[in-house]
Amino acid sequence: MKRHFLLVLLTFVGICVEAQNVSVSKARFQKGDDLSWAKPETNDAAWGEIDMTKNWDDQGYAINNAYGWYRVHLNIPSSLLKGAKQEKFVIFDLPKADDTDECYLNGKLIGKTGGMPGDAGGYKSAWSVPRSYPVDIKTGGIRWDQDNVIAIRVYNAGEPGGLFERPLSIRVPSALDGLKMNFTDVNDGNAHCNIELNNVYPVVQNGKLDVSIIDRESGAVLSKLSKKMSIKQNKPVRLTVPYDKKKVCVLTTQYTDSKTGKTITKRLPLKYILTPAAPATPRFNAAPLFGVRPGSPVIYRFPVSGERPMKFTCADLPAGLNLKEADGVLSGKIDRPGDYTFTVVAENAKGKASQKFTLKVGDRMIALTPPMGWNSWNCWALSVSQEKVMSSAQALLDKGLADYGYCYMNIDDGWEAEKRNPDGTIAVNNKFPSMKALGDWLHERGLKFGIYSSPGDYTCGGYLGSIDHELQDAESYNSWGIDYLKYDWCGYGREHAKEKDKGVASYVRPYLLMQKFLREQPRDIFYSLCQYGMANVWEWGRFVDANSWRTTGDITDTWRSMYDIGFRRQAGLAEYAAPGHWNDPDMLIVGKVGWSSNLRDSRLTPDEQYTHITLWTLLASNMLIGCDIAQMDDFTIGLLCNHEVNLINQDILGKQADRVAKDGDIEVWARPLADGSQAFGIFNVGEEDKQVDIKKYISPNFKFRDLWRQKDLSADELICTIPTHGCKYLKVTK
Ligand code: GAL
Repeated sequence: MKRHFLLVLLTFVGICVEAQNVSVSKARFQKGDDLSWAKPETNDAAWGEIDMTKNWDDQGYAINNAYGWYRVHLNIPSSLLKGAKQEKFVIFDLPKADDTDECYLNGKLIGKTGGMPGDAGGYKSAWSVPRSYPVDIKTGGIRWDQDNVIAIRVYNAGEPGGLFERPLSIRVPSALDGLKMNFTDVNDGNAHCNIELNNVYPVVQNGKLDVSIIDRESGAVLSKLSKKMSIKQNKPVRLTVPYDKKKVCVLTTQYTDSKTGKTITKRLPLKYILTPAAPATPRFNAAPLFGVRPGSPVIYRFPVSGERPMKFTCADLPAGLNLKEADGVLSGKIDRPGDYTFTVVAENAKGKASQKFTLKVGDRMIALTPPMGWNSWNCWALSVSQEKVMSSAQALLDKGLADYGYCYMNIDDGWEAEKRNPDGTIAVNNKFPSMKALGDWLHERGLKFGIYSSPGDYTCGGYLGSIDHELQDAESYNSWGIDYLKYDWCGYGREHAKEKDKGVASYVRPYLLMQKFLREQPRDIFYSLCQYGMANVWEWGRFVDANSWRTTGDITDTWRSMYDIGFRRQAGLAEYAAPGHWNDPDMLIVGKVGWSSNLRDSRLTPDEQYTHITLWTLLASNMLIGCDIAQMDDFTIGLLCNHEVNLINQDILGKQADRVAKDGDIEVWARPLADGSQAFGIFNVGEEDKQVDIKKYISPNFKFRDLWRQKDLSADELICTIPTHGCKYLKVTK
């Protein structure tokens, strides 16, 4: 009866005591900030009540750019330690804090996550980070079997704010729980994986680490090592394991705690390069066709791999054009519409190659194949600068990506000044010293220049949009040498809200307006609509002479996002793509991305990255690299610079792939190609590796080429294992 009463009482105050865990969700709460509120003797009787598992906005407190304090009175029972494997410390697991927190136990700081505005390093949000603070059983200040005061100071920068998601709980962990294993896979020069083991708990962690590298295709163990270690709190132990960058391997690690024999195992599929190295002799890697409008400047760099120096010549170059011998940059203009055919020869010390090209001159000749290049958003987001654009452009040239057709260098949001010039023209912020100089610099190298704006008053990033200044902006773009405009709906939502009739016309209107002014400019400006697929943009995009239209919201570097956008949302859209007008499933998420000045490796696994490029090339998608090219590793270069793969994307028939079969977790996507053959992507979208018999989906009477490995397949290679989230990319010919 008594026990029952205690349980009812504890439930009432939101406290739950289990064998090795005390947890509490209710606290006292006060807006404002006073460090003396950390002290146990502070009188909080008049404070409000709050639930720590829900943001404070949901509970009537809208506190932004300011502080709030939580206080919990808690009897911490010594019975918590009964039967524990270690008796040195307990863990205080806090709710997540939107954005930063400091936690005090009986007046003593026990942990802090993120940076408070007054801190030396300044404010730093850590809203999505779980907090776990270890406290020494003897010296940490716990008053066992008595009242303790846990005070949590929370700072919030923008709504929502406050503690959320889980209760505050105290538990006795196993010493091994504090061990964190991190991997950095570097597939560059000498490929290696850095392993870091850190121990966040205040006890020394003694154990052994076993590492092996296993060939995923044959199962063979390629290398092995075993190391004893003793890891002190926050003194990480690091080791480097080399591997063969061309083998498809997995790294497995097993850490064994010497006291309990408990283990932690991890498995990391390593990056692997399938693309064979390009020969030293010249090789043309481009579609044999491109277009320009009559009288517009021709800016084109012939994409040819092979050893430099290289000499480019053309005996039958059309009048009005000029070819730079040293780097294959074509310039000039042609006024008369028509098809102009000529042969370009590239020659170096190792040999010679030639290719016939057709330049189509006509009114709708922009983007006859999907655009290839770079955009600043997925890496730098609003921290983009002229310097960063030039650094990636230089790397595009130095690392050879321009030799595979990547040529657009597009600045996304974040270049605009706070106010327009007095005459209403758009001004740039001080991160961009001169747009004209940047444009000239890119054009001289045969690269193209892209920019971003919104039809609304403000862009998504809060910068100035083009509303009421469309003509002026188009003219500014022309004067800077802009070749690509991404026009992002965003702030236009406020205008649109005023429309009585929200039919398709209301979505078309702002895009048609800018189209008119862009097309009046004496240069070709690729017109990229970004409005996330509203009003079925694919049905009318080509009628506003858009060269591409985003079909969905923003992509991020997770399987879920890529799967949703690439597979689920593109099925059925193939019929809307055609030369000059493309569906755009958003920019690439390989390499170092981060949407900020802090970049990280894409969180997609290597297999997922092969799937990403395979699918995007099949979809005839814009191929806009979203990472810092200066930091691009060999693995990412291999993904982006496989000419057989890219030539599927650039196929001049311009037909997008569609899903032709869905067989459980296996999806087959196919597109017809100009030479009468077909490209097939066979994807395993499930969570387990799968044995696949390709003959089930494609007649075996054809010739099969593995595009990633650039090699023909024999009949018995048509039965293969496709790893989870991985694929096979095939060109199938009669
Ligand atoms: C989003 C857009 C992103 C990026 C961003 C800039 O609306 O989808 O790709 O351009 O705005 O603020």
